[in-house]
Amino acid sequence: MTAIQKAIAINTGGGDAPGLNAVIRAVVLSATNLGWSVYGIRRGYQGLFEEDGVVDLTRDTVRGITHLGGTILGTTNRGNPLSWPVESEDGTVQLVDRSDEVLEEFRRRELDALIAIGGDGSLQIAAALSEKGLPVVGVPKTIDNDLAATQVTFGFHTAVATATDAIGRLHSTAEAHGRVMVVELMGRTAGWIALYAGVAATADIILIPEIPYHLDALCAKINERYETGPGFAIVVAAEGALEAGGSHTFLEHSEHSQTGESARLGGIGEKLARQIAERTGHETRSLVLGHLQRGGEPIAYDRLLALRFGSAAVELVRDGCFGCMVALRPPEVLAVPLSEAVAKIKLVPLDGDLVRTARNIGISFGDE
Ligand code: F6P
Repeated sequence: MTAIQKAIAINTGGGDAPGLNAVIRAVVLSATNLGWSVYGIRRGYQGLFEEDGVVDLTRDTVRGITHLGGTILGTTNRGNPLSWPVESEDGTVQLVDRSDEVLEEFRRRELDALIAIGGDGSLQIAAALSEKGLPVVGVPKTIDNDLAATQVTFGFHTAVATATDAIGRLHSTAEAHGRVMVVELMGRTAGWIALYAGVAATADIILIPEIPYHLDALCAKINERYETGPGFAIVVAAEGALEAGGSHTFLEHSEHSQTGESARLGGIGEKLARQIAERTGHETRSLVLGHLQRGGEPIAYDRLLALRFGSAAVELVRDGCFGCMVALRPPEVLAVPLSEAVAKIKLVPLDGDLVRTARNIGISFGDE
């Protein structure tokens, strides 16, 4: 019996994460081993609407990319085909639905399936396209680790390693100058990166969106550090951290309303540093680690997870299992419905082992 030849497409959407290239390589090698052709769509879905925006992916094009950060296909968080920004002649931007054109392009190019690698937003797009009849398999990606259907996403542990290293380095200056150092980490509305890196790097205070903080409690902990000996303090704040009864802090300069993107969180570190200095009188500095958390080579764990996800995605296409996403449910990588995968965000459980560990070793969440 001869195997059925397929032509499949792959794209990467949303923010980049270490491990994207490893997924692409695993997809291309697994699929070409089945005799299939693989095409890469550049910058999310954008490439479908551009000349030269869809490229052949072969063994040669994916050679030596497993360890590389970023994505050889490029990505965007402005490329939602269901809500596509189009500039009119008067300069205003309208959001239009181009999803039918996506399906039409797949038919025109005789593509049998799409492997869509992305986070929450990109997987919601994949789920909507799947509902409209596009044969899609999703691959979860985000440094934020906030997708509930998979135990972990690739990129997360690399971001944690980068953040842990950075916080470790801040200890030197904090101690040498007797300062409070506040470091703002990514994670959107989930505190996973801040919690993991904060505990691993022994921060004194970790502020996460799941546990709203009280400024009084936070400053009391800082004062205690000065009164009882160490004479410095490290505060790790997730970008989504918020005061009890307060709201999230957003970046001022964000064009999101024009482009269909979500508003960008940011600024909590600087705000806290000002408040801490005012209230405690201790010299305080803040730092935003920002996109350094998304850059660089994936650590071995993320490379392996990404390769496993890419290989599993091709198996699902082979088996005709569409409208689903690969997920890590140890010890296996298996398929979950895309609708389930995008139904809810995974937040840090308040009674979880890592929160308890942090409290047991004297780390404050600024709540008591
Ligand atoms: O979702 C990944 C992430 O890095 C978030 O942690 C952060 O809020 C956001 O993307 C930043 O997006 P951008 O790259 O558009 O600044």
